[in-house]
Amino acid sequence: MNNSNNIDLFLPRSHNTDFFANVLAKTILSHNKKPIRIYLKGEIGTGKTTFARSFLKTIGIIDKIKSPSYSILEQYNIESINIYHFDFYRLNNHIEFLDLGFKDLLLDEEAIFLIEWPEKTKESLPIPDIEISFQCYKEGRIVKILAQTIQGIGWMKIMETKKINLQNLL
Ligand SMILES: Nc1ncnc2c1ncn2[C@@H]1O[C@H](COP(=O)(O)OP(=O)(O)O)[C@@H](O)[C@H]1O
Ligand SMILES: [Mg+2]
Repeated sequence: MNNSNNIDLFLPRSHNTDFFANVLAKTILSHNKKPIRIYLKGEIGTGKTTFARSFLKTIGIIDKIKSPSYSILEQYNIESINIYHFDFYRLNNHIEFLDLGFKDLLLDEEAIFLIEWPEKTKESLPIPDIEISFQCYKEGRIVKILAQTIQGIGWMKIMETKKINLQNLL
């Protein structure tokens, strides 16, 4: 079911995940409000990094975009905005998160956060604007987008109007 704070989509192929990330990134950029927090949930291999990579390309990152699955954090900067791409899969608990010294980064109010495996340290993290859950379905993926802030709900309303568009093109 879709309403103003959630949208479900079926993305049959990898390039549909790219396209979805592209539409969402453009929607978010048009609002120009920071910080931006997007949390990406789902088992290994469901498309979280694929989404993040396309999102980062759309917002203008031209560097090679590496998966943070080993480094935990890959950081970028564009026009004085910091972009943090985390993958907390390797963390065992939030004590480890604190030990890594990432806590202060989360206070950056001018930043964009893309966080894979937020559930590994959920006690340490602020509420996301949106949470996207990825799931394998047949050869493709189902994504469930849940908005959790006013800002996130605003993006979802715009995404709803683009949905016809999304479905035609997917
Ligand atoms: N909508 C989709 N349909 C089919 N395959 C997809 C889709 N989205 C992503 N993939 C594929 O899933 C694989 C794993 O993706 P990845 O982004 O590394 O997953 P994760 O970060 O969740 O572990 C990649 O080969 C990617 O091309
Ligand atoms: Mg990944």
